[in-house]
Amino acid sequence: LYRFPVIPVKGVPLMNHIANNWDSIWAFSPHPTDLLIATYPKAGTTWTQEIVDLLLHNGDTEICKRAPTPVRIPFLEIFSPPPIPSGLDLLEKMPPPRVIKTHLPFHLVPPGFWEKNCKVIYVARNAKDNLVSYYHFDRMNLTQPEPGPWEGYINKFMRGELAWGSWYDHVKGFWEEREKRNILYLFYEDMKENPRREVERIMQYLDLSLSDDVISRIVELTSFKSMKENPMANYTFIPKPVFDHSISPFMRKGEVGDWTNHFTPGQSKMFDEDYEKQMKDANIPFRTLI
Ligand code: A3P
Repeated sequence: LYRFPVIPVKGVPLMNHIANNWDSIWAFSPHPTDLLIATYPKAGTTWTQEIVDLLLHNGDTEICKRAPTPVRIPFLEIFSPPPIPSGLDLLEKMPPPRVIKTHLPFHLVPPGFWEKNCKVIYVARNAKDNLVSYYHFDRMNLTQPEPGPWEGYINKFMRGELAWGSWYDHVKGFWEEREKRNILYLFYEDMKENPRREVERIMQYLDLSLSDDVISRIVELTSFKSMKENPMANYTFIPKPVFDHSISPFMRKGEVGDWTNHFTPGQSKMFDEDYEKQMKDANIPFRTLI
C-alpha cells in the first residue's frame, strides 16, 4: 500500500504526493514574513525546526509539548491516504508568519519565496553521514521507496536517484545562491561542534535578541538527548503504517562520522573518487569528522 514510487518533476525524483500536486505547489504564494527551512532529507531539518520554534517562542517549552504543529507537517507534502492532512491546506489556514519546511532543491522551490524575499535557512550535512542517515530512514519510512541493499543504496545516492534527487545538486544549488538570496547556510557539523554558537547565529538571522538564560535553555531542549525523549520531536506521533520506529528510530544516533561504521574502505574510496568529480569547483567546506 505504501512504499510509493518516486515520480520525476523537471528531472528530479519526487515523492508521488508532491509530484501529483505539483502545479499547486509551484504556484504557492508565501507571505514576506514566512520563513523557509530547506534541506536535503536527513541533514538536520527537525533539529533546526525545533531551534527555530523555540527561538520564535522565547524558549517556551509548551511549544514542544503541543500536538504536532503545522511547523512539523512536512511542507507541501500531501500525504494520501490520511490521517496526515495536506501541508498546503494547513498553510492556508495558518496566519503568517509561518515556518515552512521543504526538501525541494533550489530550482524547484516555488518562485514566490524569492519574489517575496522570504528568509531561508538551509542546512547541509556531509554526504556520507547524510547518506547513512537516509538509508536508515528509508528502512523505517514506509512511504519512501524500499532502500534495498546498502551497496546498491550508495550507488543510487551517487546517481541522484533517491527521493528529492541529487544531494550534490541540492547542496550546490543553495550554496551558489546563498548571498544573492539572503540564505543562511548552516552545517550540521557546526551545530554538533558548537550548538550555542549556531543557535545564536539563527537568532541573529531572525532579528531576535533573547537572554542568555533562554538561549541556554533552548540549547538544552534541542540537544539530541532531549529531542529523542520528546514525542513531538522524535516523530513517534507518526506511527505505522507511515513510520516503523521499531526498524530504526527517527532520532537514531545524531553523530558526525557514523559513516565510518557503514562504509567499507573500498566503498569509501569509490565514493570519494566520485565525490571529487561531482563537487569539483564547489568549494563547500564540508567536514566528515569533527
Ligand atoms: P541520524 O540518522 O544520523 O541519527 P532530518 O530531521 O533532516 O530528517 O534529520 C534527521 C537526522 O538528524 C538524524 O540523524 C537525527 O538523529 C539527527 N538529529 C535530529 N535531532 C538532532 C539533534 N538535536 N542533535 C543531533 N542530531 C540530531
